[in-house]
Amino acid sequence: MLAIGSDHGGFVLKQAIMKHLTERGIAYKDYGTYTEESCDYPDYGRAVALAVAGGECEQGIIICGTGIGISITANKVPGIRAALCGDCFSAEATRQHNDANILALGARVVGEGLALKIVDTFLDTPFSNDERHIRRISKIEG
Ligand code: RB5
Repeated sequence: MLAIGSDHGGFVLKQAIMKHLTERGIAYKDYGTYTEESCDYPDYGRAVALAVAGGECEQGIIICGTGIGISITANKVPGIRAALCGDCFSAEATRQHNDANILALGARVVGEGLALKIVDTFLDTPFSNDERHIRRISKIEG
């Protein structure tokens, strides 16, 4: 199960990503927001991060205007490695090297077409399981 959430700035892109996930047959749970009314990105970033850290969902996607505020929030939750990606190279590398468990997107930064490619790259790229990457990840949380 994939967790997905956004603030108002990411709402429209979240709708497009959920449609794309449905077309791909990927199950997801929508943690809001559910309208375009102004709201606070930490509420949604934290909800998705807690779902992933708690094991309710394996991975997450979070979206705000820039992707910055919501990724900062998610990364405060122990066990979360949220990666803000604006290109497919970063999405691939963060799965291979960082075993990122949440993808963050900036809806005012990337267009829908690129965002969907980034989502696909993130979801389709496995962790390398390389010993040096495992060692480095283990040092992230001390
Ligand atoms: C909301 O206007 C905006 O601040 C938010 O979506 C995000 O970009 C914050 O980092």
